[in-house]
Amino acid sequence: MQRQPLVIGNWKMNGSKALVAHLATAFASQPELLGQVHVAVCPPAVLLNAWQQATQQLAVAAGVQDVNEHADGAHTGEHSVQLVAEAGAEYVLIGHSERRQFYADTEARVAAKLRQVLAYTEQPLRAVLCVGESAEQRYNEQTMMVIEAQLESALATVKADQLSRLVIAYEPVWAIGTGLTASPEQAQQVHGAIRKWLENKWGASGAAVQLLYGGSVKADNATALFAEADIDGGLIGGASLHADEFLAICTAAQARSR
Ligand code: 13P
Repeated sequence: MQRQPLVIGNWKMNGSKALVAHLATAFASQPELLGQVHVAVCPPAVLLNAWQQATQQLAVAAGVQDVNEHADGAHTGEHSVQLVAEAGAEYVLIGHSERRQFYADTEARVAAKLRQVLAYTEQPLRAVLCVGESAEQRYNEQTMMVIEAQLESALATVKADQLSRLVIAYEPVWAIGTGLTASPEQAQQVHGAIRKWLENKWGASGAAVQLLYGGSVKADNATALFAEADIDGGLIGGASLHADEFLAICTAAQARSR
C-alpha cells in the first residue's frame, strides 16, 4: 500500500509571527510540492491562529506540540483536545521526548493523551506518537525493547478503525537537537521493526501507519533517510525554523510520492 509522504515541523518553544508570515510565503510558491507531500507545522499553540490565517489558501496543515490528558477542568495553562481542535489543529504530537524527560509525561499520561485524541471525533485529528531510546539504552542494546514497551503501553487500547488517525515518529533521544542523526540504516532498522510490530498487531491496516523519523534531519541528510523503505517522512525540529531548509526537506520527501 502506498503511504503518503508526511513532513511535520515542530517549532518547540521557538518562532514568531514574523516566521509564520515568512514560512507561509515560502510555501505559497510551492503548490505542486504541497500536492504531493503532506506538510504540517506545529508552532507554539499561541501562534496557531496566526498560522491558520497565513496559510488559509495553502494545503498546509497545523498542529500542536502537546495536549492535556483530561477532557476539561481545572488544569491551569493546559489545552484540551477539543480546544486545540477548535483552534484548527489537525495534528497533535504526543509523548515527545522533551515532554517525557522534563515535563513528567509518563507512559500512563502518554497513553491517556493518545486516548483523548483518538476518542475525539468531531474533527479528524491525527495523533503523532513519539518514541525513541536514549544514548545509554542504545549503547546497552535495549533500543527495540524500549520502543516496543513505549508502543505497547501507548497503543494498548487503540482499535483498528482508529489507525488511519495515528502516525508514529521514531526520534532517538540522542539525535534530537544534537546534530547527530541516526544513519539511514540505523533508522530503517528501527522503522522496519516498528512496522513489523504494527503489522503483527493489526495486519495490513497496522502496516499502513505512516512512520516518521526525527532527530537532526537537515536538507543534506533528508534524501538518504527518506529513501529507506519504511521512513515515510520526517518530524523536523531546528530545521523547520528555516524556510529554505524546511522546504528542501519537504522536497526530499517528494521522491516517495512517485
Ligand atoms: P531536531 O530536528 O532539532 O533535532 O529536533 C527533532 C525533534 O525533536 C522534532 O520533534
